[in-house]
Amino acid sequence: MFNSEVYKRRRTELRKSFKSGLALILGNSEASMNYPSNTYHFRQDSNFLYFFGLDFPDLAGIVDFETGNDILFGDDLTIDDIIWMGDQPSIRDRALLVGVENTRPQAKLAEYLAEAIKKGRQIHFLPPYRGENKMYLESLLGIPAAKAKENASNQLIRAIIALRSIKDSGEIAELDKIANVGYEMHVKAMRMAREGRWEQTIAGTIEGIALANGGMTSFPVILSQNGQILHNHDHSQTLKNGRLMLCDAGAESIMRYASDHTRTSPVGGKFTTRQREIYEIVLNANNGAMNATKPGITYQEVHLLAARVIAQGLTDLGIMKGNVDEAVKAGAHALFFPHGLGHMIGLDVHDMEDLGQSLVGYDDETQPMDQFGTASLRMGRKLQPGFAITNEPGLYFIPALIDMWKKDNKLSQFINYNVVETYKDFGGIRLEDMLLVTDDGCRILGKRPPISIAEVESNAGTE
Ligand code: GLY
Ligand code: MN
Repeated sequence: MFNSEVYKRRRTELRKSFKSGLALILGNSEASMNYPSNTYHFRQDSNFLYFFGLDFPDLAGIVDFETGNDILFGDDLTIDDIIWMGDQPSIRDRALLVGVENTRPQAKLAEYLAEAIKKGRQIHFLPPYRGENKMYLESLLGIPAAKAKENASNQLIRAIIALRSIKDSGEIAELDKIANVGYEMHVKAMRMAREGRWEQTIAGTIEGIALANGGMTSFPVILSQNGQILHNHDHSQTLKNGRLMLCDAGAESIMRYASDHTRTSPVGGKFTTRQREIYEIVLNANNGAMNATKPGITYQEVHLLAARVIAQGLTDLGIMKGNVDEAVKAGAHALFFPHGLGHMIGLDVHDMEDLGQSLVGYDDETQPMDQFGTASLRMGRKLQPGFAITNEPGLYFIPALIDMWKKDNKLSQFINYNVVETYKDFGGIRLEDMLLVTDDGCRILGKRPPISIAEVESNAGTE
C-alpha cells in the first residue's frame, strides 16, 4: 500500500470537484466459482483501491463532500473467520492505514444512506459491473439493478477519470516494476517457442511467473500460433516450425497495477522471409508510434500514423495498392489492422474501462471515429504528461474477414485480393509496449522485452 497521505490526498482532490452530496465507493465481495465457499481469487475494485487502498472484501467507502468526513464501512472478523483464515487487524486499524478515522459496521450502511436520502442529499455512485454489487446497490438505494448504470453519477465518473488518468510517481514506480515482471514472462514464452511444445505449457509457465511475483495475471493469457484471432484464449495446439506464436500477457503487482505486452516469435527461432517482411512493418509501426507519442498530439493521430506505416509497408509488398493516405482515409488498412493502437493502463489493464470507454479515451475535442478498425481505438484523446498507455499495432490475415471483404470487392482499389489470398495461412503479428507520456515525449515503462528481429531470433525456441 501507499502511505495514508496518498489516499487522503486523492480524496481531497476528489472533493474539489463537488460542492455537495457524497460519493459511495463500493469495494468488491468474494465471487463464487462452483459452490459458495469456493471462490475466485479475490480482486478488489480499482476505484476503491485508488481512494481507500484496502485489498479485502466487503468494504464500502464514503467521501462526504459537505462535512469533509470519510467513512469506511466494514466488519471485524468473527471467531469462525479467525479459526479458518487467521487473525487480521481490526477494521479501525486498517482504516487508519489509509487515513480514515471513521469506521462503521457494514450493516449500518443502508441506514446511513437512507438518512442521507431523507435529507435530500445526492448520492454519487459508479456504474457497477458485478452482479453482486448491482443487487447490493438496489438494496441500498432502491435503484433497479438494470438501471444502475444509467443512474450512475456522470460527475463522479468524470472527476475520477481526471484524477486516475495522470499517474503520480508512486504509481509510475509500480508500473515500471510490474512491466519488468511482464519482461520476464515474455522472454520465457519466447524461449519456450519450440516445435512440439503444447501452447498451454507456455501459457501456464508464464502465468506462474505472474503469480510468483505476488499478483495474478492482469487478464487471461492470450497465446497461440493462431495469432490472427485477436484475443485467442485457446491454448490447445502444439507448436509447429514455420508458424508464429503470438503472446499477449501481463501481470498485476501486489498493489494491483497492471502490465500488458505482446510479442510474436517464430516457432523454432528463425523467421521465414515472408514473416520477417510482415514483422518489420509492425515493428516500424510500433517504433513510429512511440516516436510520435508526446503531449499535445492525440492518440487518434498516432493511431492513424501507425495505420499509414502499415498501409505503406503492405503497399511496398504488393498486398495493398494505390495512394497510402487515401487508403487509410477509406479504412482499407483495417482489413489487416482491425483494432486500436492502445489503451490507458494503470490499476486496470484497460484502465477505468468500467467507467465508460468513451469518457476515458475521448473528450469534447476528440470524438471516437465510427470507421471499422479505428472505431475500436479505446484511447483517442490528446496526450498529457503522466498518461500511461499501450502501443500495440498489429497485422493479421483473418480468413473469414478477407473472404467477406473480397466477396463484396470492398475497397478493391486499395487491396490486391489475389495476393492477400496467398497469406491466408499466415496468422498474425502484434507488438505491444507500455509507454509513459513525459513532459517532452514518452518513455517505455519497465525493460523493453526483446523486439528487434535479431533479439527475438536469439531468444526464440532456446529452451
Ligand atoms: N492485452 C489485451 C488487450 O489489450 O486487450
Ligand atoms: Mn493491450
